[in-house]
Amino acid sequence: MFAVKGARALTGRSAFAKFEGAYHGSYDWVEVSLAPDPDAWDDQSGNPASIGGSESVPKHVLDDTIVLPWNDPSRCAAILAKEGSRLAGLIIDPVPSRAGMVPVSREMIDVIHTAREKHGFLIISDEVISFRLSYAGAHPLFGLRPDLITLGKIIGGGMPIGAVAGGAHAMAVFDHTQGKARVALGGTFSANPLAMAAGLAAMTALDEPTIARLNQLGSDLRAAINLAFIERRIPAQVTGSGSLFRLHLTSKPITDYRSCRAPAPKTLQAVHAGALDYGVLLTPNCSGAISTPMDSASIDQLTAALTQAVADAFTRQPWEKWPGAGSGQGG
Ligand SMILES: Cc1ncc(COP(=O)(O)O)c(C=O)c1O
Repeated sequence: MFAVKGARALTGRSAFAKFEGAYHGSYDWVEVSLAPDPDAWDDQSGNPASIGGSESVPKHVLDDTIVLPWNDPSRCAAILAKEGSRLAGLIIDPVPSRAGMVPVSREMIDVIHTAREKHGFLIISDEVISFRLSYAGAHPLFGLRPDLITLGKIIGGGMPIGAVAGGAHAMAVFDHTQGKARVALGGTFSANPLAMAAGLAAMTALDEPTIARLNQLGSDLRAAINLAFIERRIPAQVTGSGSLFRLHLTSKPITDYRSCRAPAPKTLQAVHAGALDYGVLLTPNCSGAISTPMDSASIDQLTAALTQAVADAFTRQPWEKWPGAGSGQGG
């Protein structure tokens, strides 16, 4: 929310661009097209429609929120050419969890940078989840050069926290030391001493070798589970990057929000519940993260547990058609 407000104050504009399916919190201007239904996907020109993420989102916010398709550089370039001059900012999570956990492509980054140069909006990298991908955050891994970054979760070491970071020019908008700040930043949860102490401990533990180790474990996990699915002819797959992973109950390619939209929601719920029975806590959309106490033995356990949870769920949910049926695997 504060990054969006900062971008508005710095540009004097109100509109914002975000990607279909990506989640950036409960602020109206980004609570748009989080999980639209297929019959509402496209607007009249065939671009992603702006759909309120909840019934509370005002109509004028939808007019001011431009929704972009993930990793579709030519369509994004066309939309940004039309809308770029009224944008205050564009918010992007380089590995959006709810939109499939498929990393951003180099071509998309080029389109975004070129549009910023032409139209003067700010790029915000939402790294509330993806910050853990490298010691310097997610954006350098993908060549993204943001003006502002949003952070949360891991930087609080398990305590509630949120932060905005950026270069001196952009961050000056929040500066209250020279008089009234252009954008006031604060709230009930700001500068909570317990969260600061827990965050400092977590950030100290997450040094470069530790992040490299977690990323390797994540890569091992994705390879092992994908191999197990193929060997057992289970129509499912894992996406992700670094120490992040997400299960999908289909063997069709996952490229964006539309292709990752749960084809079998009841089966996915059963996987979530079944994984708990095997001692694994996933998010409700069956994504997860590797953490510091884990080692290669944990990856073996996790692989066995998740593969079995998916196999069990398919067996127990005969009323839902196997999503990979007809694709040559399982069914
Ligand atoms: C990627 C991402 N961005 C933003 C947020 C929102 O953070 P907050 O609830 O602190 O606004 C979340 C919360 O889950 C998130 O996962």
